[in-house]
Amino acid sequence: MISMTRLQSLGLAVAVSFFAVSGAHAEGDKAAGRKLVYTCNGCHGVAGYTNAYPQYPVPRIAGQNAQYIINALHGYQSGDRTHPTMTAQAQSLSDKDIQDIAAYLSSLAPTVPPNTPEQDKKLQALGATEAGTKAKVCASCHGADGNSIDPQYPRLAGQYNTYLQQVLHEYKDGRRNNAIMKGMDASLSDKDIEQIADYFSSMPQALGKPNELSTLQGHIQGD
Ligand code: HEC
Ligand code: HEC
Repeated sequence: MISMTRLQSLGLAVAVSFFAVSGAHAEGDKAAGRKLVYTCNGCHGVAGYTNAYPQYPVPRIAGQNAQYIINALHGYQSGDRTHPTMTAQAQSLSDKDIQDIAAYLSSLAPTVPPNTPEQDKKLQALGATEAGTKAKVCASCHGADGNSIDPQYPRLAGQYNTYLQQVLHEYKDGRRNNAIMKGMDASLSDKDIEQIADYFSSMPQALGKPNELSTLQGHIQGD
């Protein structure tokens, strides 16, 4: 017979180790992440900066969802995603670095200014097109306003239009490997891709968590 105290202390030990594990998983160290992203700013911190090869803008990552950032960096490490610079960047990072970077970046406020009334009008018009109807399917994961709440799905709102187009072509032809998105993309025509990218990139980035440290851009200019 196990005594009651023994049971209680067993229960406590399980609870403590559960907390230790989930705690280690949940949050990276934002301050450490902030130091690490210094090298990323040369490309990601510059608004509209286009990589020399390929000809599309470097994606916005400030305010992106944490688990998605983690998955993306592991994707570059494993080869599920290929890009010469990003593969090299990701290979230099440990798992802990990646957790810390994701914690920092996901805590940042969006860098895109809110929509003007004209931009909102354009967004409404796009919503009424055939592509707008097709984009309703995407909402179940990416959010009706393009700001996915589930941290494993990337936010699309406010992302560069031509970056989204590029990526949607890559899922379709297999250059970027993801089973879910390949299925989602399969029936989209080139015109659909153009319009859907236009639609999501026109959506305002929702304010996420309060800006706890600084924006990525502020980080460059501030220090
Ligand atoms: C020389 C320019 C450059 C540098 C430096 C750089 N990146 Fe990137 N990054 C890119 C480009 C270009 C892409 C898009 C690549 C692709 O098509 O997959 C990208 C993609 C990403 C993505 C995926 C974004 C998405 O929406 O899917 C993440 C996350 C990312 N970078 C994080 C980082 C981090 C963290 C660092 C610093 C440790 C860094 N990058 C340094 C150019 C750069
Ligand atoms: C069942 C959930 C689901 C649905 C529905 C879905 N997606 Fe995705 N989407 C994902 C996941 C998961 C990823 C991350 C995949 C990866 O790591 O490459 C993703 C990634 C993306 C990206 C890459 C973003 C970036 O920053 O690189 C784009 C663009 C995208 N989805 C657009 C769409 C569009 C457009 C639709 C509708 C036609 C759609 N998605 C429907 C789950 C979904």
